[in-house]
Amino acid sequence: MAACGENDESGAVVAEQQENDVLHVVGGKPLNGTIKVRGAKNFVSKAMVAALLAPGVSVLKNVPEIRDVHVVSDLLRLHGATVEWNDEKGILTIDATNVQLADVADVDTLSGSSRIPILFSGPLLHRLGEAFIPQLGGCNIGGRPIDFHLDTLRKLGANVDKEHADGIHITAPNGLHGAKIHLPYPSVGATEQTLLAAVQAEGRTELSGAATEPEIMDLVAVLQKMGAIISVDVDRTFRIEGVKKLEGFTHTALTDRIEAASWASAALATHGDIFVKGATQPEMMTFLNVYRKIGGEFDVTDKGIRFWHPGGDLKPVAIETDVHPGFMTDWQQPLVVALTQANGLSIVHETVYENRFGFTKPLVQMGATIQLYRECLGSLPCRFQQRNYKHSAVIFGPTPLEGRDIDVPDLRGGFSHLIAALAAKGPSNVQGISLIDRGYADFRGKLAALGADID
Ligand code: EPU
Repeated sequence: MAACGENDESGAVVAEQQENDVLHVVGGKPLNGTIKVRGAKNFVSKAMVAALLAPGVSVLKNVPEIRDVHVVSDLLRLHGATVEWNDEKGILTIDATNVQLADVADVDTLSGSSRIPILFSGPLLHRLGEAFIPQLGGCNIGGRPIDFHLDTLRKLGANVDKEHADGIHITAPNGLHGAKIHLPYPSVGATEQTLLAAVQAEGRTELSGAATEPEIMDLVAVLQKMGAIISVDVDRTFRIEGVKKLEGFTHTALTDRIEAASWASAALATHGDIFVKGATQPEMMTFLNVYRKIGGEFDVTDKGIRFWHPGGDLKPVAIETDVHPGFMTDWQQPLVVALTQANGLSIVHETVYENRFGFTKPLVQMGATIQLYRECLGSLPCRFQQRNYKHSAVIFGPTPLEGRDIDVPDLRGGFSHLIAALAAKGPSNVQGISLIDRGYADFRGKLAALGADID
């Protein structure tokens, strides 16, 4: 699997790209000011796929200008849809009246860029009876298998053919049919896969053990606007009654709570004060509780949330990442940088991905004291217990950070390195910075607006 960016080429072009792909940061200045966060990357990309279900026009508002949106737009166009993008207003208009099977070679050019192509399966099976899924990309933070996705599709009646070097061919000559499905782990993607495939399957589908992240519930809202019948029980079971026809939708995306929390962590790590316009409280409650325990201050207003370091010592904390409503795995990496500045021992038990602490190595080289453990250092043993994964971290602080040259490993880890460079004394060169464009719209402009010394 490719790491979290585009596939590497070779030779001089790459060398030149790499040279231009560095952000020079002089750290040690607090980040102060206001920035605006738009819709959630992990919702917008899925709502764009949902648009493919309806032979009509869908309008998505509050869309961020990030690379994942471009990749999914390109995939939609390859499948015959038209996609218009108004960046200033953040509005995407998708017309999926005509859908066609894309050329395998064309789809393959987008292979390695994203994990979204697998979610095209359901809509393409409904519209065309077949789908082709290229090799998937996405951040290299664990094995990231797709077995739950494929099991779900099989249970709904699809034939999954993995015998091709270029990707997976999926067909459903007799259509999809409702089924009883249980997920062994509440996977976000597999839950979305089931929703997108079952919504027009004949009969009822029951999905137990599902994930209920706010981004998933916003996708359910979109599907309901389109004509779907979906209910969810308190035990995280979705019931989907297949419908024959769906229509286009108009929807405003919920705010990106991962981006909002990343800027909140940056405020803490740099002794700053950032007003995140657009940030909303309900989706961030778990994060806000932890932020307060550490000693960070926040103020929720109608327009967004202000996050700041009130001065004095930050307090250490013990957290375990989990599915919603737990502490999101994607919040963990930026917050770890702030925890290097807390007074005492903090513990982070990562229970969603087996390999999400690779980003701590450069932090240690910058002066942080972080030790990784294979044991579950939390209240509950997780899936990675007794396995060879260093999925618990102990962070001892406060430790001053020194600037240095850093390579961006993955999207969230990369943003964490950026925060570390901004908090550190002296200059840093952050290499591979464009990877952060996958999920943080105009982060260079936002950093400049917050007074960061970057070049
Ligand atoms: N898993 C399986 N088999 C599957 C699917 C998942 O074993 O078929 C495992 C994974 O290996 C992982 C766990 O289940 O250990 C959770 O994975 P999940 O399917 O929930 O993750 P995802 O859908 O691939 C989305 C976000 C991630 C976010 C996770 C968890 C998108 C595009 N990605 O990934 O976001 O971390 O849910 O909330 O929605 C990011 O934004 O940087 C990012 C990585």
